[in-house]
Amino acid sequence: MTKNKNNPAIWSTRIKGNGSILFQRVGNSIDIDKRLYKEDISGSIAHVEMLFKQKIISFKIKNKIIYGLNKIEKEISKKKFEFDKKYEDIHINIEKRLFQIIGEEAGYIHTARSRNDQVITDFKIWIKSATLDIINMIDKIVISSVKLAEKNIYTIMPGFTHLKNAQAISLAHYLMAYVEMFERDKKRFKNNLDNLDENPLGVAALSGTSFNIDRNYTSKKLGFKKPTNNSIDTVSDRDFVLDFLFSVSVCSMHISRIAEELIIWNSDAYNIINLSDKIVTGSSIMPQKKNPDLLEFLRGKSGISYGNLFSMLTILKGLPLSYFKDLQDDKEIVFKSNDNLIDCLKIFDEILKNISPNKKRMLELANSGYITATDLADYLVKNYSIPFRKAYQKTSSIINLAEKKKKRLDELTLVELKIIEPRLTEEVLKVFDLKNSVNSKKSFGGTSFDNIKKMINKYKKKK
Ligand code: ARG
Repeated sequence: MTKNKNNPAIWSTRIKGNGSILFQRVGNSIDIDKRLYKEDISGSIAHVEMLFKQKIISFKIKNKIIYGLNKIEKEISKKKFEFDKKYEDIHINIEKRLFQIIGEEAGYIHTARSRNDQVITDFKIWIKSATLDIINMIDKIVISSVKLAEKNIYTIMPGFTHLKNAQAISLAHYLMAYVEMFERDKKRFKNNLDNLDENPLGVAALSGTSFNIDRNYTSKKLGFKKPTNNSIDTVSDRDFVLDFLFSVSVCSMHISRIAEELIIWNSDAYNIINLSDKIVTGSSIMPQKKNPDLLEFLRGKSGISYGNLFSMLTILKGLPLSYFKDLQDDKEIVFKSNDNLIDCLKIFDEILKNISPNKKRMLELANSGYITATDLADYLVKNYSIPFRKAYQKTSSIINLAEKKKKRLDELTLVELKIIEPRLTEEVLKVFDLKNSVNSKKSFGGTSFDNIKKMINKYKKKK
């Protein structure tokens, strides 16, 4: 855009002179909110179409404005538009350019609206589309996780509580746990759509407008379900921003937890998964190293998302109604959180395609730590009609015995077992078999092979 002396600041008649350079720099958001140009232009087009329909502007003016706006959109998308910092934000930059293209009649565009409703209209449209993009990306991760799970139904590993061997599980069951986390993320993002579907346009600065506008019409044009109810609340409300930032935070937290887990599993101490060369990096001094940097990146990034959520919560804390400049930072925060999550989701999908279980080591680890102890206690309850607490004590005694003899449970002889429970027969030995242990957990949601297969099929059908 050429610098134009005839195109001064909108408020130049009232406010004399140029503000300080520092104030201009701090108050200016064009570098951030130019990302909203498409939403801003479609919002403006819907607005002038409505103004014409309501006989507030003429057919000729409406067409002129729409012609100018379409031209501006092309200029911006072809990178031929010169954003001018003097004009503060995307709304004023576009309006000023419209004056240059169509002249004085451009001034009709701001009838019955304010930047206060304009900016949140743009922003809601943007966040809605970002939300749908994120849901699609999470879907891809669900597909990759299900694929990996399908290959590992019979891969047995220890399940942990407190990072100590707890009970044997299938790796597929573990991976399907991630699927549940991501499915909840999708649901969380979807739930946000309800609030995003309320149209702010037309509430103007804060009190509505004396023009006979039709907010249902612009709602329909812009893909909103209905107009917002209260003009004051509308220009002050950034709950939809918090919803988005919270959903991003929870999703990043899930990714961070999984990343940490995979880092532990890949450590030399555990060594139960391998990472392909695509997702590791080397060390500048230690030639042997293959470090899980990408997973560490994912683990750390959740901190940035939480920070952004807290920034926004803090900006809103104690802020009276209605619009204040404090709110302007909402866009930078959201864009950063969004870009961050998109990167994390893409990386995580790559990671899922580049990890492989070290099945032998998984089984070895699962065979340690008396992992079938609960199976033995359950067996005693079922076969000798004793209460679970009694069975728990007997099993503890058997474990003490095994520990004393430096044996695993499946290495104890029947004679040794009978010292604790004389009624035991050969049959008990089957409870120490890890496959039997995994497959016995047939309760809904448990790790039995059939359960896992059913869940995998359920998710495959959903896609
Ligand atoms: N750039 C501003 C923002 O993002 C637009 C709204 C400006 N409104 C105002 N009254 N200064 O918040």
